[in-house]
Amino acid sequence: MNINEIRVQFPVLDQQVYGKPLVYLDNAATTQKPLCVIERERDYYLHENCNIHRGVHYLSQKATEAYEHARQTIADFVHAKEAREIIFTRGTTESLNLLATSFEHLLLSTPNSQLKVLVTAMEHHSNLVPWQQMVQRHQGQLLVVPMDDKGVLDLEQYEKLLKEGPKVVSIAHISNVLGTINPVKEMVAMAHQYGIPVVVDGAQSIAHHPIDVQDLDCDFFVFSGHKMYAPMGIGGLYGKAEWLEKLPPYQFGGEMVDTVSFEKTTFNVLPYKFEAGTPNVGAALGLETAIQFIKGLDRREVETYEAQLLQSAIEKLSEIDGIRFIGEAARRSGLVSFIIDGIHPYDLGTIIDKMGVAVRTGHHCAEPVMTRFGIPGTVRASFALYNTMEEVEIFVNAVKKAAMMLR
Ligand SMILES: Cc1ncc(COP(=O)(O)O)c(C=O)c1O
Repeated sequence: MNINEIRVQFPVLDQQVYGKPLVYLDNAATTQKPLCVIERERDYYLHENCNIHRGVHYLSQKATEAYEHARQTIADFVHAKEAREIIFTRGTTESLNLLATSFEHLLLSTPNSQLKVLVTAMEHHSNLVPWQQMVQRHQGQLLVVPMDDKGVLDLEQYEKLLKEGPKVVSIAHISNVLGTINPVKEMVAMAHQYGIPVVVDGAQSIAHHPIDVQDLDCDFFVFSGHKMYAPMGIGGLYGKAEWLEKLPPYQFGGEMVDTVSFEKTTFNVLPYKFEAGTPNVGAALGLETAIQFIKGLDRREVETYEAQLLQSAIEKLSEIDGIRFIGEAARRSGLVSFIIDGIHPYDLGTIIDKMGVAVRTGHHCAEPVMTRFGIPGTVRASFALYNTMEEVEIFVNAVKKAAMMLR
């Protein structure tokens, strides 16, 4: 893998901030976009822009074909059986809201059901609040799988909670705070023994690891384009066709209907049933190009390289007095979170920013994780395939310097 060749495709990386070369280690929040993605979206607006699915004219048909081609590309990328199992959304958050709302309507038709949903102690707010609000509207209950001090889920407790009869299980593939890779395949199999469907939040996994939804056997898999080198405002929801057929629509309006009268509406077939209104076509095409960009690289090589970046960061950071890593699972990926005794993460982040290093500080939209570890927040450095060993070095030296200044 030639990092220099990759980096030239990301012009945003080639800049100075506060007179220092930018070291961008906030990839778990959003990745940068390669030129091919930027150009694909630009090209769409220059040559193809049109509303899709409802025009007989040339441009509309061209845009429709391109959009549906992008859907097929995503389906192939996550190894879905059929393209109609892929719903375009704005991203992970919208996908999860869609599922929580649709499940709520589906389950309401089952009288007297005690509404319970099972999540884990390490969820992003996006995979917690929609389910929490849904169960609370019906005096139901959110069940939470606990984790240990290393950030590893307790599977014995998980099994016990499955026996309490949750209607849905929704779990992060990789924690955005701890970097833990959860054993989702095993967890899906366990839930299926009780006939419970499983949603996997793939926001932090899809850019780093090959995804095979059929192998995982998950019922749903959700993700955001902007965390995988694609534009913002686009993402997806994979769902097994039999589930998507069963779930009622999430939003209503144009495109998701079949016939409409003042008395009655019938709904469109999959996937359109879940895609009300005009979609973000340009971004969907950008997402397709991002997938082609990822597929153009040797994914195993990328995985190994990113693991080396992470390992190097952990080893070098370990030399710092008073450092405490938050998340030390044996199986982890993509990021390192830490605090340093007596130093607020925000102060540390602010100082290293002035040295050109961009990391994220705070609770990372996972306040219950902070509560679990008794901390106000962490400093989180997250890696992408364009980061270099030299950047890891600059980052750790910046942390060391800032720690000295703040003590
Ligand atoms: C694990 C996880 N789930 C969900 C989300 C929400 O993603 P988005 O803001 O793109 O909808 C994030 C974003 O950081 C995340 O890391």
